[in-house]
Amino acid sequence: MSFTPFELEEWQSRYEHTVAHNLADSGCHPVALGELIGDDSAALDRLLAADLHYPPVGGTDALRALIAGWHGAAAGNVLVTVGAAEANAVTVASLVGPGDHVVVMEPGYRQVRGCALNAGAEVDPFPLDPGRGWRPDLDALDRAVRPGTKLVAVTNPNNPVGTILTPSEMDAVVAAADRVGAWILADEVYRGTERLTDEVTPSFWGRYDKVVCVGSLSKAFGLPGLRLGWLVAPPELTEAAWRRHEYATISAASLSMHLAEIALRPATVDRLLTRNRALIREGYARLQEWIDGSDGLLSIVPPHATALGFVRYHLPHSSVEVAHAIREHGDVLVGAGAHFGVEHHLRITHGLQADYLDAALDGISRALRKLHTV
Ligand SMILES: Cc1ncc(COP(=O)(O)O)c(C=O)c1O
Repeated sequence: MSFTPFELEEWQSRYEHTVAHNLADSGCHPVALGELIGDDSAALDRLLAADLHYPPVGGTDALRALIAGWHGAAAGNVLVTVGAAEANAVTVASLVGPGDHVVVMEPGYRQVRGCALNAGAEVDPFPLDPGRGWRPDLDALDRAVRPGTKLVAVTNPNNPVGTILTPSEMDAVVAAADRVGAWILADEVYRGTERLTDEVTPSFWGRYDKVVCVGSLSKAFGLPGLRLGWLVAPPELTEAAWRRHEYATISAASLSMHLAEIALRPATVDRLLTRNRALIREGYARLQEWIDGSDGLLSIVPPHATALGFVRYHLPHSSVEVAHAIREHGDVLVGAGAHFGVEHHLRITHGLQADYLDAALDGISRALRKLHTV
């Protein structure tokens, strides 16, 4: 049986601890435990007194209610998982089988694509168009979705290009899926990372009856180490995914659920989103300045969200070649465009501390100069 590896995650597993600067992770500089708890001594006492039992397998009731609130759903729709990674995997495992047809937004985080291929499905892309500032090509979506399409997968806001779908583009995705009765998997892990507005991107939840929304604490909340994610789905699908979750992981960690209950309180949500949006806005300004100083070697379509820049380089080399050169000669890890489905780009994380980012960008410049002159 053929197996499609997850190239991006393999790249990170192999190299992220081998470089001086890692710009290949997809979130902001992470929140420290003390920063999450702040001066709430009662929360700290509760944390220290917590029994380290198995937690409720689908998530504590309190956490499921808080997650439901983030999407405008009900607690019964929620399954708490080990990161969005598990939520995507159990969703695909619940919906997709051999011979099914799946349509996936590209460029993208290629987990759903890979899981669907590994389940024996046929996968077609739904492109974001670089010629139109990475807006979705809705005609191509209409051509891709056909009778028998089982699942349409979107990431909104998008990784790696930071596109936020407009309400009418969301309606077009729903209409395309509805035309053939397909499910929509809306990976919404980047809701809350908006760069140009303080308004959280609307959820797909409530726009269509066959929708699964996936989320996590890893991006907008800056807490990837908790490995805490979720899916929100109609109850039958939540149950089907839960059955897979019991096989895969049993449950997320009890301490992570405890800390997630703190992170998802409305006051903490405001604090964390404000912190991370500030890192994103400052980091992007530095990245843009660096690109502007590259004498035309680099260019970018400014992203609307995420801590990521999907940077076009104007050299003939493949993106994996360039990313290796940056690793070897600049001591920096970046993402290669090919791992997101688009060549001649690098994904560069900028939502980091200024000194760290500047030193890393210098390392990339050094490596690119070397490539440029050979
Ligand atoms: C679009 C998308 N979905 C899911 C994930 C996995 O996130 P988590 O850390 O919550 O497992 C990522 C991580 O980069 C991502 O970019």
